[in-house]
Amino acid sequence: MVIDLTPEAQPLSGALGLELHGFDLSQTLTEGQVASIRAAFNENHVLVFRAQSLTTEQQMAFGRRFGELDTHPFVNGSSQHPEVLEIVTEPDDRTNFGGGWHSDVTFLDEPDLGSILYAVELPPFGGDTLFANQHAAYDALSETMKGLLDGLVGLHSAGPQYGAGGYSTKSKTMATKNAELAAKVVEHPIVRTHPETGLNGLYVNQAFTVGIKGMKKDESNAILGFLFRHAVREHFTCRVQWRPGTLVMWDNRSVQHYALHDYVGQRRHVRRITVKGDRPR
Ligand code: SIN
Repeated sequence: MVIDLTPEAQPLSGALGLELHGFDLSQTLTEGQVASIRAAFNENHVLVFRAQSLTTEQQMAFGRRFGELDTHPFVNGSSQHPEVLEIVTEPDDRTNFGGGWHSDVTFLDEPDLGSILYAVELPPFGGDTLFANQHAAYDALSETMKGLLDGLVGLHSAGPQYGAGGYSTKSKTMATKNAELAAKVVEHPIVRTHPETGLNGLYVNQAFTVGIKGMKKDESNAILGFLFRHAVREHFTCRVQWRPGTLVMWDNRSVQHYALHDYVGQRRHVRRITVKGDRPR
């Protein structure tokens, strides 16, 4: 397929990410524009659009061009639109939402396809988001390690984050709910095949992957510990520096991300929507 990336596009790093110019996302995009964005998304995994001016409804309308919007099972959405998370870090917060390497909601049977984040209020410094390409991380493994991982099943749970006393329930600004449901464990392949590109990638993350099916704790800890470190080595990463009006969309089937909290004493507010995904295979 010929991708029409008019008028220009700049890579964010050698590993993943593309900044696209020439789109006004507040307007209804043509089918051709959506196809271009989807092709660029599949190829680059993280897309950055600058200088947008979007109401919540316009951001949601843009997201719906890529699928049905999801509602977070454990974090309260906005009162008007449950699908919308207002992600706020206050100046005196000691933790931030998304502050650690993860892929969104892998504790669901059908984790989200992707997330779309829009800058509402930014700190005067810091607050970047890092992304890591999980296809590149998989490709860099030895054939022997790939053979070992092939067929292994990861166990994922929201418990450590959203269960009673979990890390995220301590946030002052992001209200959580349904803690009693967070202990559920779901199974996903450790090597996931992307449903649109057919690329293999690692599909484990330190926030939600709690074990490997059929292994003793020490065994799975050893393998997962290696994978958690390997998957986010810096040459698989890119970094998004937010500016007013920046919108970023990322492919949860292909990347992990990390919201840096290096702006203590300052406020940061971004608005997130997510697009429903399918069962990992
Ligand atoms: C998230 O993990 O969805 C938040 C990312 C960010 O705030 O940059």
